[in-house]
Amino acid sequence: MDAQVVIIGAGAAGMMCAIEAGQRGRSVLLLDHAKAAGEKIRISGGGRCNFTNLDIQPDRFLSRNPRFALSALKRYTQWDFIAMVDAAGIPWHEKTLGQLFCDRSAKDIIAMLLDHMEKAGVCVKLGVSVTSVARKHEGFKIETSSGPLQCESLVIASGGKSIPKMGASGFGYRVAEQYGLSIVETRPALVPLTFAEQELEQTRPLTGTSVQANVSCGAANFSEGLLFTHRGLSGPSILQISSYWREGDTLNVNLAAPANVAEELKAMRSESGRVSIKNALARVIPEKLATIVIAETGLTGNLADQNNAALEVLAQRVHRWQIKPVGSEGYRTAEVTLGGVDTDALDAKTMQAKDAPGLYFIGEVVDVTGWLGGYNFQWAWSSGWAAGQAV
Ligand code: FDA
Repeated sequence: MDAQVVIIGAGAAGMMCAIEAGQRGRSVLLLDHAKAAGEKIRISGGGRCNFTNLDIQPDRFLSRNPRFALSALKRYTQWDFIAMVDAAGIPWHEKTLGQLFCDRSAKDIIAMLLDHMEKAGVCVKLGVSVTSVARKHEGFKIETSSGPLQCESLVIASGGKSIPKMGASGFGYRVAEQYGLSIVETRPALVPLTFAEQELEQTRPLTGTSVQANVSCGAANFSEGLLFTHRGLSGPSILQISSYWREGDTLNVNLAAPANVAEELKAMRSESGRVSIKNALARVIPEKLATIVIAETGLTGNLADQNNAALEVLAQRVHRWQIKPVGSEGYRTAEVTLGGVDTDALDAKTMQAKDAPGLYFIGEVVDVTGWLGGYNFQWAWSSGWAAGQAV
């Protein structure tokens, strides 16, 4: 036996699992084909890693079985991870909506995890790619670019398909299929959405413009920033809704969520009626957007020339914009992969495959996907911790 436990993938989930298993006295070998551990942690949260959220709630995770994640999330909570960060003396702050970020750099989180792994006696091998796994006696035989290995427990922490140029591969899904576990259809999530040329003609002049929006699709609804891009829409509200949007769906967008455009214009009319209607609207929403909205409604003249009905029509254009994206920017820019290893096939307490003893799946490869805001890392820590207690 080369190690009792082999973990494939030195990302957030794999490192947490390695620490816990190592602390239990298991001999642990952590493999990754990347040159450094925790590459996604390093680039996360704009380089400051949004490492968890104060408000971890089950409805902030998408899965075919939304209850699956609860056990691990309750046993290893955001408070447990915050305690680890505090014990390492890493300064952090809440940015917005319960999202916790490092004050200095995401590298603080990686250094903390590497330090814990070293103390737990974990052996880390980087630049090693795993090509195949097979059952051998009571354990597994693993073929790697640096030769074969054997272990008792095998943990698949190889992540999803997002950002292939950073090492993402479909490896974990292939192993799951090899052992008869089903895969919930995967698709890019937390990803910018794109428009067809016809819509782009309308929105291209707005490239770079951002607004506080409310975006809804079916029952899902997010109030956060929205950014017009040269390909369509981005910003937190769009990344969030992308996890719920499907081809053919229309988005309902309030382009001035905190404002009541009609009331603001009516109030302005009594004081500054001689301002042009376009300039008046540009005091409430970004000027480029105001120009387009005014052109669409065909309104001309000054604010004083507009009756209440005209201002209401104008406001509806801003508050009730409907748009049908044609697609997303795909795995190239998606923060996560929706879908993955079907949770029905896994034990919620240990992450072990029910019909393949000794084989575990943790982190993003599993069909559990969090909202934007630290939820995905919390799932990686919690699922990694849970498997680390069992391997
Ligand atoms: P992760 O993808 O981190 O690790 C998998 C590892 O397996 C990789 O190191 C890969 O190289 C390795 N691997 C794959 N196949 C292999 C093979 N065949 N052999 C060997 N190694 C293999 N989330 C959040 O909560 N807060 C945030 O701020 C952000 N920000 C963010 C920004 C960007 C740009 C992205 C792309 C993503 C985020 N996320 C995020 C999401 C978060 O990064 C993601 O959910 C976790 O990193 C998932 O952790 P895992 O350990 O499951 O996979």
